[in-house]
Amino acid sequence: MSEGLLKTEDPEAAAGVPADSNAVEEVLVLDFGGQYSQLIARRIRECGVFAELLPATASAGVIRERAPKALVLSGGPASVYEPGAPAFPTELLDLGIPMLGICYGMQAMVQALGGQVEGAESGEFGRAELTLRNSGGRLLGGLPQEQSCWMSHRDAVFEPPPGFTALASTPASPVAACEALDKGLFGIQFHPEVVHTPYGTEVLTRFLRDIAGCVEKWSPQSVIAEQVAAIRAQVGDGRVICGLSGGVDSSVAALLVHRAIGEQLTCVFVDHGLMRLNEAEQVVEAFGQFGIPLVHVDAEERFLARLAGVDEPERKRKIIGAEFIRVFEEEAAKLEDAAYLVQGTLYSDVIESGGSDAADTIKSHHNVGGLPDDLEFELVEPLRMLFKDEVRAVGAELGLPERMVWRQPFPGPGLGIRIVGGEVTKERLDILRAADAILQEEIRAAELYRQLWQSFCVLPVVRSVGVQGDGRTYAYPIVIRAVTSDDAMTADWARLPYDLLERVSNRIINEIEDVNRVALDISSKPPATIEWE
Ligand code: XMP
Repeated sequence: MSEGLLKTEDPEAAAGVPADSNAVEEVLVLDFGGQYSQLIARRIRECGVFAELLPATASAGVIRERAPKALVLSGGPASVYEPGAPAFPTELLDLGIPMLGICYGMQAMVQALGGQVEGAESGEFGRAELTLRNSGGRLLGGLPQEQSCWMSHRDAVFEPPPGFTALASTPASPVAACEALDKGLFGIQFHPEVVHTPYGTEVLTRFLRDIAGCVEKWSPQSVIAEQVAAIRAQVGDGRVICGLSGGVDSSVAALLVHRAIGEQLTCVFVDHGLMRLNEAEQVVEAFGQFGIPLVHVDAEERFLARLAGVDEPERKRKIIGAEFIRVFEEEAAKLEDAAYLVQGTLYSDVIESGGSDAADTIKSHHNVGGLPDDLEFELVEPLRMLFKDEVRAVGAELGLPERMVWRQPFPGPGLGIRIVGGEVTKERLDILRAADAILQEEIRAAELYRQLWQSFCVLPVVRSVGVQGDGRTYAYPIVIRAVTSDDAMTADWARLPYDLLERVSNRIINEIEDVNRVALDISSKPPATIEWE
């Protein structure tokens, strides 16, 4: 059985009482390598139904054993006629569960069942006008006759397979949707999972609720109930340790474990002195309010001593990473009987590390600031099946302060990799912390914090000439870096309003004596990276 999450809002379950495991039902998304595959799973979950991604190559046996309520076949970059193109799993037809093919998933279904798929004269990318045919059938019936949808394909379906009804078309897609009601098979060429398809959620809901009969009970509360039960079952009366970073993942993981086993959990917060202004205090205060046993290790001096004289970026990272592990291990050793370690591993980490090998994307990994694999603990990973936005929702439900729920990503080596081209010293850290605090304060005041993937300051270790009052200055510049992104793999520089930039610049130069110049980084990723080191 899967690690699927319990789908119940039953108050007993919400209080942590394990519910009947028969209540678990899930939809499987077979991933043909489309750029939106994860998004399909997220949208299904937003409809209140648990969905998990499996590679399209998953064996029929594995899928059968999971007994899903329905299958969704994702889009993908292949053409059904290419040699080796991933095939529609005809061997799953006898499962008798509804299947929905999206984009490539529809084309693979149509081609396998005797319909006609061909390369169209031109591809169809972006917004398209969809016109219903045959009243829209079960899947689209009752929706507006004309509506817009989001397309991303080159091949198109020209004839549905025998026994199917065509339900819609666009100028470039003669058959943009089709269904064979009696067989429970449905196909749509457009992407219901993207926001540019206004009726996308309605189409998914119809498929899940009306056609597959799924019960919409998956929610942050049900996640908490299931994970509390799972943690208790795994850990029993064992002692558990959790390394806190101040980020949302480790905080929510810790809160969940604490909800499950109370004071059997001890959190260790290694404060390397490379955090932002007041961040360490916020972590200590928040966990104090929950009454969670917390060891706060003030290790600033140790880290700064190790970093003295080092200006090479990768050496800095390695030193910070190694020292972090050393301090954590020392603290863990003091908790002699701790046998379990909490990790805030997310579903996207699971997918990236082999859960799905089909995604046609380039991914980079940053492990610095994490713990090594060979620690002698059994791992407790209560967020393994959750997307980031679901982790935030669970955190909010558990009462995590809003500031921590919505914290932007922050690298493990912290401000250590934002002092660029020179040594990390206490003096430079304090300058950078002060500048960063001003930037954050103004961005929050302008209500832009949540719209940005990351926003921060960088301190290049150079000095330039300035003039203040009647005298010349020779001081550091501060670079503002603010980006929008979905996943940090690509990013664009944020178009911050000029008046906001002006306020930030004035305040940084006026309030921080050692800074006389503020610059704005207007590079996208690629070719630049988000961080400067
Ligand atoms: P880049 O700079 O490569 O960063 O565009 C992508 C994302 O990773 C974060 N990052 C790190 N996170 N340890 C971390 O835990 C690191 O050494 C590290 N370097 C970069 C970065 O903040 C961004 O979110």
